[in-house]
Amino acid sequence: MGAGLPDICNSIETVRGSGKNWGNAMFKSFLKNNQKKQETPKGEGSRPLQKAHFSSRRLNVLAEKLGAKSYLEIGVHRGRTFFHTSVAMKHAVDPKFKFDPAEFEDETTRFFAMTSDDYFRNHADGQKFDLVFLDGLHVFEQTFRDFCSALTLTHDRSVIIIDDTYPSDVYSACPDLAGASLRDQYGGTGRGWHGDIFKMIFAIHDFFPMLSYATINTGGNPQTLVWRQARQDFKPVLNSLEGVSRMTWFDLQRHLDTMNFIEEKAGLDRVVAALADK
Ligand SMILES: C[S@@+](CC[C@H](N)C(=O)[O-])C[C@H]1O[C@@H](n2cnc3c(N)ncnc32)[C@H](O)[C@@H]1O
Repeated sequence: MGAGLPDICNSIETVRGSGKNWGNAMFKSFLKNNQKKQETPKGEGSRPLQKAHFSSRRLNVLAEKLGAKSYLEIGVHRGRTFFHTSVAMKHAVDPKFKFDPAEFEDETTRFFAMTSDDYFRNHADGQKFDLVFLDGLHVFEQTFRDFCSALTLTHDRSVIIIDDTYPSDVYSACPDLAGASLRDQYGGTGRGWHGDIFKMIFAIHDFFPMLSYATINTGGNPQTLVWRQARQDFKPVLNSLEGVSRMTWFDLQRHLDTMNFIEEKAGLDRVVAALADK
């Protein structure tokens, strides 16, 4: 999803799906101000042949260097990342795929047209994944639940990537698009909407000291890599899950070092080095 989004419609669908009530005028105004021309899917049938981008680039580096054989993506949309990620066994989960999954389903590539909660509760079936990409409903509580569920489907050498973990400005950090749409009214610039996924970093920092993480902030959307490696210098920042849930963009600015920002290549190298001996 992320900043700048040609994918802004996803964001809107996501918010609609969350039951938030958007007035038609507000919806149209947001679209007018934020929507760029969508890339038109080309190719045979409904195959969403779009150019690969930073997500699959990062995933493919990890897949190659870690020898990943299984991949789970939560929130797939047109499959821009999913179809470009080269892993033998793949599960795609999205309540509203923007293509016909039946055309691409086979024994190793499976599509689950349902919410992540439904998938984890009823369909995951004890499968373990080497790589997981969390890019579904961009709301902290849902992403936190996806993360906890996904952890149960991982092993010592798995990596979880969480999308959109650093908002581009205060408007971008609003958990709903109505808040983000105030940007134009108050003289803000830019178009991004990341939601409040940044809270995930503080939840992981404070409540999962046996996991390490780093947030890539170059070459595409800010994404956080999470892997199993205990943090030695652990000290909670907020020590309250409620406090994390109530965080604002200003709180984030006060604790920016908690993001563990890292350049893309250095971040991927760090994960690979940490997992090499496991
Ligand atoms: C940002 S898009 C995913 C983009 C995709 N990962 C990519 O890299 O091109 C977010 C997707 O999450 C899906 N979504 C919304 N709520 C969801 C839920 N509860 N569980 C799983 N997916 C969800 C939306 O239908 C939408 O297609």
